[in-house]
Amino acid sequence: MLKILELFGGIGSPRVALRNMGIPVKAIDYVEIDEKAVRSYNAMFKNELPYKTQDVRGWNLKPDILIHGSPCQDFSIAGRQKGADPGSGTRSSLMWETISIVRNMGLWKPRIIIWENVKNVRSRYMVHNHEWYMSELEQMGYISSYALLDARDFGLPQARKRIFTVSILGGKEFDFTHLKRKPMANIRAFLERGPVDDYYRVKAPSMLRAIGKTGTVRRLPIIHDYCWTITERPDRAPGCGCLPIGNGNYRYLTERECWRLQGYSDIDFDAAAQVNSRRTLYRQAGNSIPVPIFESLFKKML
Ligand SMILES: C[S@@+](CC[C@H](N)C(=O)[O-])C[C@H]1O[C@@H](n2cnc3c(N)ncnc32)[C@H](O)[C@@H]1O
Repeated sequence: MLKILELFGGIGSPRVALRNMGIPVKAIDYVEIDEKAVRSYNAMFKNELPYKTQDVRGWNLKPDILIHGSPCQDFSIAGRQKGADPGSGTRSSLMWETISIVRNMGLWKPRIIIWENVKNVRSRYMVHNHEWYMSELEQMGYISSYALLDARDFGLPQARKRIFTVSILGGKEFDFTHLKRKPMANIRAFLERGPVDDYYRVKAPSMLRAIGKTGTVRRLPIIHDYCWTITERPDRAPGCGCLPIGNGNYRYLTERECWRLQGYSDIDFDAAAQVNSRRTLYRQAGNSIPVPIFESLFKKML
């Protein structure tokens, strides 16, 4: 039984990947501050222990794998780029909580630590914290490697590039080149069949003006083969794109489509949709990590 610890757990993409792979998992802890994310997580894993915790329960945790996708806002080019220096109080500086949790574990350490974050952690003004993070782990016996992975290389028709850092205790570097990739699937398989509710039609004048634009701001590209990175608010510019629906009209992706484009099944989505609103479901998809990337990482590791 694999023991995992999910920090900043959201809707639990690594857990979903392991479940899809049929790997028996014992979740040691799941830490998430947002009650609505916890609600979705519990709905998806309802046959298991309900999680309410927001804090790590104790230091005697003995996970095999620790996964954290700590907040990215202050690294992201979409944010103000306040960075993640320790003690800065930014949300992204919560990455240092993970380091302190691992240090406080004492002699037992997880064999593998996986960190996911935006591409900008390697930018000129942010890279020092990424390097520092890896050197802190090195002092605890880990060898870290990182790569920029794109969801499109793992079967999903979504342009989403994220940095994955894999740290292995007392081991070798993790070789990302040998990860199993999959050709990008046809986006039609991810879209709702038939017309969708008028709620999703692009109506706001500012958004109508953004249609077809592909810059970094005020962008609402038209989706052809793949969508752009799914964000917390697909109905805002810059957005992940819109679909032509005839007569010169366009619509946003639905929440269900956003979940599918992150690799979640309709069963997972339907469970979460029972307990959360549309707006929340969008946010949870935008915050999550593509499930097939975790499947590929775990396949290589386990
Ligand atoms: C990028 S998302 C992680 C998504 C997650 N890996 C998934 O698959 O859905 C970051 C998460 O950190 C959570 N978070 C932010 N501050 C936190 C804190 N102080 N303690 C615990 N979780 C926090 C947010 O609510 C959000 O769900």
